[in-house]
Amino acid sequence: LRSFCPFTILYFCVLIESSLLQGWVRSVRPQKNNIFLHVNDGSSLQSLQIVADAKLNDPLLTFGSAVEVSGILKKSLHQKQPVELEAEQIRVVGECNPVNFPFKIKERHSLEYIRQLPHLRCRTNAFSSLLRIRSEATAAIHSYFKNNGFVQIHTPIITSNDCEGAGELFQLEPSGPAFVDDDNFFSVPAFLTVSGQLHLEVMSGAFSRVYTFGPTFRAENSQSRRHLAEFFMVEAEISFTESLEDLTKVMEDVFRSATERVLARCAEDVDLFHRHVTPGHRWGCDLMTEHEKYLVKHCGSVPVFVTDYPYDLKPFYARDNQDHPKHTAAAVDLLVPGVGELCGGSLREERLNLLMARLKRVGLEDTYNWYLDLRRFGSVPHGGFGLGFERYLQCVLGVDNIKDVIPFPRFSHSCLL
Ligand code: 4AD
Ligand code: MG
Repeated sequence: LRSFCPFTILYFCVLIESSLLQGWVRSVRPQKNNIFLHVNDGSSLQSLQIVADAKLNDPLLTFGSAVEVSGILKKSLHQKQPVELEAEQIRVVGECNPVNFPFKIKERHSLEYIRQLPHLRCRTNAFSSLLRIRSEATAAIHSYFKNNGFVQIHTPIITSNDCEGAGELFQLEPSGPAFVDDDNFFSVPAFLTVSGQLHLEVMSGAFSRVYTFGPTFRAENSQSRRHLAEFFMVEAEISFTESLEDLTKVMEDVFRSATERVLARCAEDVDLFHRHVTPGHRWGCDLMTEHEKYLVKHCGSVPVFVTDYPYDLKPFYARDNQDHPKHTAAAVDLLVPGVGELCGGSLREERLNLLMARLKRVGLEDTYNWYLDLRRFGSVPHGGFGLGFERYLQCVLGVDNIKDVIPFPRFSHSCLL
């Protein structure tokens, strides 16, 4: 600064400039002459220590209260923190009665306990760390795709198709006085999307490499620790590809680059999970427990790609592996320790005659005439996958229950807030 500023006077002004901290009190320690506070503003796990003259004490300065502190930022004499704020003024912006406040100072509350308080749990260390990690991982995933030539597509949330054909749909009905006699708003049944895949396939026919990252919805009547009714999915679709390896490479790269960035930029937050939250890794895929047990036994606790599933188990869009001795589809799932299925993907059936025959067999030929058009006009071999973002966070942080890695979990019999 000195080298850029010829005026000593300005240099001094900068040095004595007052700092302002706005945040929530994490601890209060009144002493004879001074009062020590720790205030956290959500930007990191660290709270800033405030040192104030005892006469600035206020009975409303309690754990959880919102405060605004102005003062001088100084080098701290204690090794625990590099700097502290010497307060000139403290204003209690919002009081917080410690008797009613559901979190108690210095207590480590369990994830199960804080889950009951979705409107307040972001005030805890664990959940605020989780949300910072989630935000960083989101940015990292977008960066990965941007840096690798993918075009982001905002696929619709409202759709008339059931991509996975599993019938786990939430159907939309308008409500309100304007719709008493007309509950058929779209003139066709409309649903919340279960996957943006089919819309990505449309776009991959023009852009080659596309992705989407948004909410998806499944009416799965499950209370399991890895299912939500609303979850976020990262989906990619790649044209001019004929091998599952092209897909598994992108799955692996997305996982690797997001995780590297999270570990580099959120080291402290991740560490909190690894020290205090993570339960022992265990496998527990509800639907495929037996397969997973087998894989654990034979592969050890590592991520595993499972390829070439029986053809009839996979949705209509999966590519027929005609050369395979058994009748299989060119599909791949990525299973990871502690979570089970993290990604599901496949090559798509790009051959018009085979796709048409399959759709005919299940009576969907007319419904998907537009999808058949994609095979009529400039069809190319292509494939893609979806990665469950919450399951990714569960895997990286070792969180047992999926409800603890999403800001506002929705699952059967629960839609709080
Ligand atoms: O395996 P799924 O059903 O695949 C698809 O939807 C494809 N159409 C994706 C694609 O190829 N574009 O779902 C993909 C992933 C799963 O592997 C899982 O991680 C996650 O989405 N997932 C869920 N996560 C939380 N709650 C649920 N109910 C989930 N269902 C799927
Ligand atoms: Mg799947």
